[in-house]
Amino acid sequence: MSLRSQVVGCGGYLPERIVTNEELARRLDTSDGWIRQRTGIGERRIAADSELTSDLAYEAASRALQRAGMSGSDLDLIVLATATPDHTFPSTAVKVQARLGMKRGAAFDVQAVCSGFIFALATADNALRLGQARTALVIGAETFSRILDWTDRGTCVLFGDGAGAVVLNAAPLEGPAARGVLSTHLHSDGRLHDILYVDGGPSLTGTTGHLRMEGREVFRQAVQHLSEVVDEALAANGLQPSDLDWLVPHQANTRIIDAVCRKLGLAPNKTVVTIERHANTSAASIPLALDEAVSDGRIRPGHLVLLEALGGGLTWGAGIVRW
Ligand code: ACO
Repeated sequence: MSLRSQVVGCGGYLPERIVTNEELARRLDTSDGWIRQRTGIGERRIAADSELTSDLAYEAASRALQRAGMSGSDLDLIVLATATPDHTFPSTAVKVQARLGMKRGAAFDVQAVCSGFIFALATADNALRLGQARTALVIGAETFSRILDWTDRGTCVLFGDGAGAVVLNAAPLEGPAARGVLSTHLHSDGRLHDILYVDGGPSLTGTTGHLRMEGREVFRQAVQHLSEVVDEALAANGLQPSDLDWLVPHQANTRIIDAVCRKLGLAPNKTVVTIERHANTSAASIPLALDEAVSDGRIRPGHLVLLEALGGGLTWGAGIVRW
């Protein structure tokens, strides 16, 4: 029997503390105008000192499970995407597993930075379609505030903290219009590992390190690869851009989002954009945007939703979901 991974719940969590561009401009040589014009960002959330990535992930996961009418004991797989885990090991996923009261199955992290949610979704979708698991939780959770160089105005203004999650259930495939994940498409090019990276790590320095980026080159690569991968995802499903109800992109920069939107010929009001309030939350940005658009009634059952992201690695990917 063919199976498809249906989304049965989603949830998001943002830390309480809001840091506006004006607040950053009091500490750094920057301005609200510069940040808004170049990125579309107005403010970001920053985790409290006591709040860890696993705490954010747990909150988002609990909300997603509640919406699905499930509890942790219904799960047999957790795939958590993060580049800012609580520890070097064990994974952040196993800490969430324990807190959710899930005592069977498996939980692990995947690391594809800002593309992490798409990579985690693909991993869970493949496991469900193969019958390796029946109910999976896919989480994107980050505390990027912990790896930023707060004296580097070129990077620290871009990111925020947060988490989002979706619950997937394996369901029999009932025709091409069946709800669920239609396909996922993953890519990486390690030759570009040094245009967006963290300058520390357990093996390299024994410290966590700080995020470093060649912004212009990342921008150029993002527009090119995201355009290619959305074409690939549409072609794999015999779809035209006009068939889409929503584009839910990774929220890195409004200019990157607008470029992909233009390329698809999509009206801007068909794109879910949260960057003004969330900034770039890396692996959390897509599930946070999904949660917002589902909660306010924009994304409804049966809608065709295209997800896309690019991040450090470089990694990039896309997925199409019939909600
Ligand atoms: N405030 C004021 N001035 C700034 C700031 C700031 N926060 N940051 C940089 N500048 C200055 C630079 O110092 C430079 O000054 P100079 O001309 O005197 O040397 C000037 O602004 C232009 O700098 P650039 O880096 O060339 O600015 P650019 O127009 O490329 O914008 C940005 C920078 C916003 C980072 C852009 O390159 C970008 O969005 N790149 C994509 C990167 C991205 O989104 N990364 C996120 C992670 S990857 C992902 O999620 C896809």
